[in-house]
Amino acid sequence: EWSSQPEVTAAHPPKNAAGDGDRRPISTVLIIIAMQTEALPLVNKFHLSEDIDGSLFPKGVPWVRYHGIYKELHINLVWTGKDSILVEFSKFGCVLAGVDSIGTISASLVSYASIQALKPDLIINAGTAGGFKVNYLYGIGARQTFSTPNLIDELNLKVGKLSTGDSLDMSPQDEVLILANDAVVKDMEGAAVAYVADLLSVPAIFIKAVTNTVDGQKSIAEEFLQNLIAVCTTLAQTVSQVVDFISGVYQIIG
Ligand code: ADE
Repeated sequence: EWSSQPEVTAAHPPKNAAGDGDRRPISTVLIIIAMQTEALPLVNKFHLSEDIDGSLFPKGVPWVRYHGIYKELHINLVWTGKDSILVEFSKFGCVLAGVDSIGTISASLVSYASIQALKPDLIINAGTAGGFKVNYLYGIGARQTFSTPNLIDELNLKVGKLSTGDSLDMSPQDEVLILANDAVVKDMEGAAVAYVADLLSVPAIFIKAVTNTVDGQKSIAEEFLQNLIAVCTTLAQTVSQVVDFISGVYQIIG
């Protein structure tokens, strides 16, 4: 694992936000997730089935697609899968299992391949994130993001800037940049998904549930693991409320 420059995420606004275009319902939703523990509660909630023929992605990649129909929406959940080389060791040096393909490289590749294959109307990147105890003013000097004011009002969600880097820990150099950009949460995939969604002009939203603080005294990894299961349940509830909200919502296409 290494630390990279944090990047502040901007979701792609719809092509024709001015409102002159055709209107059609959102039909295909692509949910991109990096950890199995984050993915499974949603697979269960939406009663999704695993794509076993695996023809969607090139042979040999670990990416897993689950799909199904929920409230007339075609829901596709793509999990980046387990890395084929990296493994986790127990305290006693035994190999435990493959580790989830976390981070920006897998997230960008899976986003690209899934958008090409599925042509989604909307991407939801869902996952856990680190939060800050210190809560600076946010929303200043930001890039334009995909705006969802009604959804946020309805579901009572907090809006903030997300910073992405390939490390769970936060180096002092990263901290300076994160705070200078007024980011309030930190993850390991959001900016990569936003980058690809932007390139391919697909609107994307980012739903992050906080497992740990990154600027406190506690060990980030310990706090993350302690809260992971409970936070993933909350994450699944929120994502399903968001999907309930968008079922039947119209998008404007230019
Ligand atoms: N996901 C959960 N906690 C995180 C952290 N501290 N940094 C990056 N991603 C996270």
